[in-house]
Amino acid sequence: MAPTIVVEKDGLLPSYTSAPRKSLSPLRATIYLALALVCTCSALWSLDLPELLHGGLSESEDVSAADLCPQPSALAPSKHAAFWETLNETYATDDFASRAVEWLGGAIRVPTQSFDKMGPIGTDHRWDAFGPFHDYILSSFPNVHATLALTKVNTYGLIYEWKGSDDSLKPLLLAAHQDVVPVNPDTVDEWTHPPFSGHFDGELLWGRGTSDDKNGLIGILSTVETLIENGFKPTRSVVLAFGFDEETSGLFGAAKLADYLLENFGENAFAMLVDEGGKLPWPLEHPCKVECILGDYMIEHGKAFATPGIAEKGYLDVRVEVESPGGHSSVPPPHTTIGILSALLVHFEANPYTPRLGRGTPIYQKSLCLAAHAPGLPLDLRRALQNAVKSDKALRAAEKLLFQDRMFKSLVGTTQAIDLIQGGVKTNALPESAWAVVNHRIATDSSLDEVKEHDTNLLKDLASEFNLSYTAFGEDITGQDKPAYGKLRLSDAWGAGLTPAPITPTDKDAAPYQLLAGTIRATYNAHRGGDDVVVSPGIMSGNTDTRYYWKLTPHIFRYNHHYTGNSTLFQDIHTVNEFIAVDAYIEMIKFFTILILNADESTSL
Ligand SMILES: *[C@@H]1O[C@H](CO)[C@@H](O)[C@H](O)[C@H]1NC(C)=O
Ligand SMILES: *[C@@H]1O[C@H](CO)[C@@H](O)[C@H](O)[C@H]1NC(C)=O
Ligand SMILES: *[C@@H]1O[C@H](CO)[C@@H](O)[C@H](O)[C@H]1NC(C)=O
Ligand SMILES: [Zn+2]
Repeated sequence: MAPTIVVEKDGLLPSYTSAPRKSLSPLRATIYLALALVCTCSALWSLDLPELLHGGLSESEDVSAADLCPQPSALAPSKHAAFWETLNETYATDDFASRAVEWLGGAIRVPTQSFDKMGPIGTDHRWDAFGPFHDYILSSFPNVHATLALTKVNTYGLIYEWKGSDDSLKPLLLAAHQDVVPVNPDTVDEWTHPPFSGHFDGELLWGRGTSDDKNGLIGILSTVETLIENGFKPTRSVVLAFGFDEETSGLFGAAKLADYLLENFGENAFAMLVDEGGKLPWPLEHPCKVECILGDYMIEHGKAFATPGIAEKGYLDVRVEVESPGGHSSVPPPHTTIGILSALLVHFEANPYTPRLGRGTPIYQKSLCLAAHAPGLPLDLRRALQNAVKSDKALRAAEKLLFQDRMFKSLVGTTQAIDLIQGGVKTNALPESAWAVVNHRIATDSSLDEVKEHDTNLLKDLASEFNLSYTAFGEDITGQDKPAYGKLRLSDAWGAGLTPAPITPTDKDAAPYQLLAGTIRATYNAHRGGDDVVVSPGIMSGNTDTRYYWKLTPHIFRYNHHYTGNSTLFQDIHTVNEFIAVDAYIEMIKFFTILILNADESTSL
């Protein structure tokens, strides 16, 4: 679907030279947005106290909860039932909790920070930190290393292969990353416990990587170690892939691991892939300060929701470059490249992308799941979502309510932000060129091409008004033979554009999703009792290492069953004071255990 392009009719030059009409200073814009959010939240919350007590959808409403958001039943291991029960008992012991804390705490105490723009391995010695980390896991997981075949890819990438007895079954692929976000030295004092202490206070384990993503990596290794100790021999192979620069692009790690896996296993060779999760909280509930991505499983609007990521947004940095003749500043033309570039950039901001909550997108599905199952969802939003299935008007009403949250709106739509600008060298010389970079995060139901086309069309009229020849993404837009005063060129700034990830199937015939969802519900039941978690498709706010793994399987899930409680317990990641509750960590180990056992005995994957 082509986006609607709004070109300002009055976008003539003079209007840009007078005081800005629509633009707000960033500070004022932030204040307005904050005010809007606060007002909206309290307005919405005050609406529906009775509804809070009333629970989810009632029987009499014409759309049933099961229609809006079907839930598979819990799937506990059956062939491996007795084995699982033994492990479940082991996991409940204090001995196991101490072991789990020691395993993860030890991994936190070996810092493995990855920094932006690192040089190649062997040249940039900051990578050397990963050597001691390998030593640590080698000594901590003796059974893993005695049983699984280990291949190191590009020195620090790790592939473990645990061969199953039946070659005809596609392996299960589990992924995680070894690196952590750097700790800003200026903030070390703000940590309750030092960032690389792995301090355990009896309930929480503290330090960089406890939530992202050493819990995933050590959780997987701890699970496999325990399975082997207890005599488990897989029927279906299990492959582990651990990158080491997820936080800075994955170019040295996951990109190379993907090549290795493609070469040695082939395209579409894996039954399913489970990598780290993490998501933004749902609107109007969780005020977060910094990045606010954390739980892939938490309380939302009064109900426990598990949200495996089945999509990722795309990415494009568009370089907008203007060239025109130079000369002396004392005899200037009406517009210099800097003036023209400014007009183009103002035009970008005056014409933001229109976000749409597309039916069939994971965010739409998640919204319906909240409408169906979350007792705390404001009544007007719930009604709008219930009706949105059939009515476009209701869908627009739901959007209006949801998009009041800037974070949510950004997650749904394609965004644009002008993040870099440069032009001019001297006060008495006309700038011969000026450029800026517009950063886009592309909606899951859009594409790289759609964004390129949108931006290209957006600047067409201004290119002609300023008498510029125009090329966009290698294509000649104006026709080069036409005389022109200057040049406008759009391009993919670093050639790193990324189209949105393929959407993982979640319909009732999608066996991997059904198995994952059943596993999540079984884990919840085993750990917390009751049958009370809702599983819904969701999306990650950023990209993970899985961006390199698309060819390995269509069944990619970003989910680690990391419970992060409710908003009162909410923490920001990538900043100070990262921690994990040991209880939540042990629940993750149970999840990996049930997942491996379920995949092992499944005949439908
Ligand atoms: C555009 O600039 C070229 C080169 O200076 C000039 O020949 C042409 O007449 C200009 N066109 C318009 C419409 O001003
Ligand atoms: C697992 O252990 C917990 C106690 O830790 C118990 O409540 C639960 O019923 C057990 N589940 C199974 C499937 O054995
Ligand atoms: C959130 O968690 C805290 C701490 O466990 C608890 O005291 C509080 O009641 C919870 N709030 C909700 C809304 O569940
Ligand atoms: Zn991560």
